[in-house]
Amino acid sequence: MNSDSFDSSQIPLPYSLRCKPFLKWAGGKSRLLPELEPRTPRKFKRYFEPFVGGGALFFSLQPTVATLSDMNGDLIETWKAVRDSLPRLLEDLKKHPYESDYFYQLRDADRQKGYARWSTVRKASRLIYLNKTCFNGLYRVNSKGQFNTPFGRYVNPTIVDEENLRACSRVLQGVLIEHRSFGDILSEAESGDFVYFDPPYAPISSTSDFTSYTSEGFSVSDQETLADLCRRLDKKGVFFMLSNSSASFIKKLYEGFRIETVQAPRAINSNASRRGKIAEFIIRNY
Ligand SMILES: C[S@@+](CC[C@H](N)C(=O)[O-])C[C@H]1O[C@@H](n2cnc3c(N)ncnc32)[C@H](O)[C@@H]1O
Repeated sequence: MNSDSFDSSQIPLPYSLRCKPFLKWAGGKSRLLPELEPRTPRKFKRYFEPFVGGGALFFSLQPTVATLSDMNGDLIETWKAVRDSLPRLLEDLKKHPYESDYFYQLRDADRQKGYARWSTVRKASRLIYLNKTCFNGLYRVNSKGQFNTPFGRYVNPTIVDEENLRACSRVLQGVLIEHRSFGDILSEAESGDFVYFDPPYAPISSTSDFTSYTSEGFSVSDQETLADLCRRLDKKGVFFMLSNSSASFIKKLYEGFRIETVQAPRAINSNASRRGKIAEFIIRNY
């Protein structure tokens, strides 16, 4: 597909707001933006991001018409609270002290019976607080879906970045936010739309340690389903861009598409020897 020749009906934003993801997210793409931004189509109709996480590319592009989705229900509730209930969210966020006992008390709330009945705002406020104060800012849950990252030691962490949250909320007005798996995109995206896929990465080799990916429960068969989905989207005339690890089976799955290798900085890793740069793929059909 040729993105330059597409006659877009997208109305450009008169200006864009300075904002960044309101959550630090494992696999977040803030530091890969210099590679991703220049590779987005020059023009497109609607924007879809079905593995949105912290939404680094979305906040950077600020597309006029967008649908964001993710399988993580707590995450999606938080996005909705930022979009729909910012004043109440800010008020609640300001109540949290940075203090270890308080952190563990709030962290363990999802082990209590009443948690399911908590309001969206209260749950969102808890998630943002834990994200800003936990070790490495890593969102991690156990097999029961309970948050289990320990307390993080910081000097005066910013729990409420009010200016950024206000900007994020403005950018999100009119944006559709859905709790769902990636497959629904096939029936929704149409010719001229643009989808950015950032799934949990495939393991580099069978011997590599990839626990951070399996915690998302994203299997090899999910990677195959996603590649098949991309082929179908391509046939529909949808632009797609996908980031993934440079695993050799990923290269095979996307044979025929434009596969570029980039050097990506690794952000969240408790093991210092695993920080630094790593080769990753950016795959496109245009
Ligand atoms: C690598 S992260 C995305 C990071 C994001 N691009 C950012 O900049 O923060 C992958 C995301 O995929 C989500 N996920 C995992 N399995 C999924 C599925 N089957 N369908 C949709 N989302 C899924 C996870 O909850 C996680 O937020």
